[in-house]
Amino acid sequence: MILSRLLAAFAALITSTSASCLYGTSLEPRSLSADGHVPVSTFNYTGEGGPLGWVGLNPAANKECGHGLTQSPIVINSKTVPRAAKGSVTMTIPSVDMADFENLGSTVEVVVGGKLNAEGKDYELKQFHFHTPSEHRVDEEYFPMEIHFVFQSPSTKSIAVVAFLVELSPYGRCNNLLKQVFANLHQITTPGTITKTKRLDFPSVVNHLHQYGIYTYTGSLTTPPCSSKVSWYISATPILIDVVTFNAVKKVVKYNARYTQNILGEENLMEIAAHDIGCGLKMRAQPGP
Ligand SMILES: *[C@@H]1O[C@H](CO)[C@@H](O)[C@H](O)[C@H]1NC(C)=O
Ligand SMILES: [Zn+2]
Repeated sequence: MILSRLLAAFAALITSTSASCLYGTSLEPRSLSADGHVPVSTFNYTGEGGPLGWVGLNPAANKECGHGLTQSPIVINSKTVPRAAKGSVTMTIPSVDMADFENLGSTVEVVVGGKLNAEGKDYELKQFHFHTPSEHRVDEEYFPMEIHFVFQSPSTKSIAVVAFLVELSPYGRCNNLLKQVFANLHQITTPGTITKTKRLDFPSVVNHLHQYGIYTYTGSLTTPPCSSKVSWYISATPILIDVVTFNAVKKVVKYNARYTQNILGEENLMEIAAHDIGCGLKMRAQPGP
């Protein structure tokens, strides 16, 4: 079953020529169904629904997951990655009294508005969500959590993601926004459920972003449809979470990090694997001497 699905995915990789749908489900906030639930993501991080199966789930729409040459996440080399010029990235997110907080199965997501000006381009905030463990690694090191603030330009539709790596505090400290968001996490432990947050204030992450260095590169969404030409802005200094809160988040979000993609510009790892498997099958199919 798993093998046939993977083979279907590889076949799709080799033969698919259909136009790709660049902007899809993982960007826009979900809308409520009549019974008060949010639709659960079709992709996940296990078996056939996991990252190796994402192309097979929808070969046309998710083509980039298996073909893209600039896929995310990557290992960031802190010595060579470009840094955004000081003052060139400005994020503005007004405080809100409450916001939708959703368990999509693939992540938990908060829907709020905001603005980003990055290297002269204007974007609007769609949502922010969480990964455990981190998707990006820095000099091969991973972090226990990563936050993605997903922005889109209203005019060009281009996507920018502001990311924060999250480190455990040895002193039980917790970033203020994380404390506020996760206060109601116990209300959405089941995929498909939705609740409201209490008041959310963003200075603890906005000021952090403006204060420290920012790694930048052009990659992709890390979830289907894996759209490329995504501008990444990753704070070079992790923010902090306390162990009790982190363990509670881990219980709900579980494992949701895509495997590290190939070096930017080099062949997609799935194409390399498909090629290797194709050769293997061909050799086996040949009659022996
Ligand atoms: C992951 O997705 C696949 C394919 O839809 C499904 O069969 C499987 O049950 C899912 N697994 C989990 C743990 O959600
Ligand atoms: Zn993400």
